[in-house]
Amino acid sequence: KIIVLDYGSQYNQLITRRIRDFGVYSELLPNTITAAEVKKMNPQGIIFSGGPMSVYDENAFSVDPEIFKLGIPILGICYGMQLMAYKLGGRVESADNREYGKAQIEVTDAKSPLFKDLPASQSVWMSHGDLVREVPTGFHVVATSKNAPISSFANDEKKMYGIQFHAEVRNTEYGNEILRHFTFDIAGARSNWSMNDFIDQQIAKIRETVGDKKVLLGLSGGVDSSVVGVLLHKAIGDQLTSIFVDHGLLRKNEADQVMASLEGKFGLNIIKVDASKRFLDKLSGVTDPEQKRKIIGKEFIEVFNDEAIKLDGIDFLAQGTLYTDVIESGTSTAQTIKSHHNVGGLPKEMHFKLIEPLRTLFKDEVRELGERLGMPSELVWRQPFPGPGLGIRVIGAITEDKLQIVRDSDLILREEIKNAGLEREVWQYFTVLPGIRSVGVMGDGRTYDYTVGIRAVTSIDGMTADFAKIPWDVLQKISVRIVDEVGHVNRVVYDITSKPPATIEWE
Ligand code: XMP
Repeated sequence: KIIVLDYGSQYNQLITRRIRDFGVYSELLPNTITAAEVKKMNPQGIIFSGGPMSVYDENAFSVDPEIFKLGIPILGICYGMQLMAYKLGGRVESADNREYGKAQIEVTDAKSPLFKDLPASQSVWMSHGDLVREVPTGFHVVATSKNAPISSFANDEKKMYGIQFHAEVRNTEYGNEILRHFTFDIAGARSNWSMNDFIDQQIAKIRETVGDKKVLLGLSGGVDSSVVGVLLHKAIGDQLTSIFVDHGLLRKNEADQVMASLEGKFGLNIIKVDASKRFLDKLSGVTDPEQKRKIIGKEFIEVFNDEAIKLDGIDFLAQGTLYTDVIESGTSTAQTIKSHHNVGGLPKEMHFKLIEPLRTLFKDEVRELGERLGMPSELVWRQPFPGPGLGIRVIGAITEDKLQIVRDSDLILREEIKNAGLEREVWQYFTVLPGIRSVGVMGDGRTYDYTVGIRAVTSIDGMTADFAKIPWDVLQKISVRIVDEVGHVNRVVYDITSKPPATIEWE
């Protein structure tokens, strides 16, 4: 195991990810961890992550100095390197120019195990304001660059290393090799970890944390909370109660599918609350997109609370928080809820502790976990779906009739994308109801009916997107079916805007 101490870098989540990809278990831990705690965990190596601070800041994140005496190999990245230098007697200074972006380093110590068999000159990704000006006693310079004369340092005897650049990002040419060298050659870790081990570890941890107490889970119908449900059920069986708030804004059959799988196949004990009327009432006449989002979010919490209050003797609240959702440091399994990230918005008098077993995982890892737990791939590989659901796909005021049009047309779109074998190629696809009506002709008569918009995009992470170049014949088939099969639709349009300037959703 390699542990990563969290100094707040936006990249720190990537470090553990890279190491897990090597088949070595890695987790991110708070930088306040003590040497005694580290010793108990018995990691083969420790990485100090980067971070936005300066080691000279008044409340700069620090490290228990005893950690340096444990004899465990250490790699400091960026702030982590500066912290090592500062704590071990070197000198850190503010750089003349903040350096951000690609840089070229020269490896000056050809024998350094960190850069073993790598070219002397390589490009790296830098992002820093401070840099190390003098190495601590016992250390020597291993690599240099124009702006960072000490781009890397080492104390081979103590197995302590520092790099000023970010080895964890793809823009660093040999970043993966450097992390590999640290993990295997220097720290001596072995590649023996897989998602199955993660499942076993989490189950053991959940059982230890929960004991004979009870856990409550809020199911949203999405992938993350479903996977948490199955994992928890595997660990503690009927000590888990789930509440599924159906806001009536899910896709056609989605609520049933989730219920059939989780309750039917996996045997979860689920309280299903059909709150669609309640949501529709609250949303009645509301046209502003942000207002709609707020109402849906707030109502969700209220419905959940109303049900949760009826239950007795619950000690823990489980959530499907992912790595990318984690804002704060701290990765202990159970944490008392703090008001500002009280996601469930639970009343103060309910003193739940939080369990977030997916906190260390990325989305694709969660999908893999779901598959390993035996969940059907249709469930695990569903395309992204916004929390407010179809509520933001009926443009303007929401009515049940309009929702019906979106649900029915969306189902046709999904069927035809599947028939065309485009499911994995198109990243996200759905229909929207812009609420405009236009004139058409059907049979012998004039019609005045709704227009349905098709949105389909390719993307890596949803941050940017291109409209998908779906073949004309597939689009034609979708168009014909929607007009034929969905009532009150006489026109179908295809959205050919990328993001930016448009967003993926229409609201
Ligand atoms: P946009 O429309 O911002 O969407 O380009 C990017 C991705 O995020 C999803 N999305 C949301 N997800 N709550 C969510 O959980 C929301 O309010 C929300 N709005 C958009 C969207 O479906 C797309 O995948």
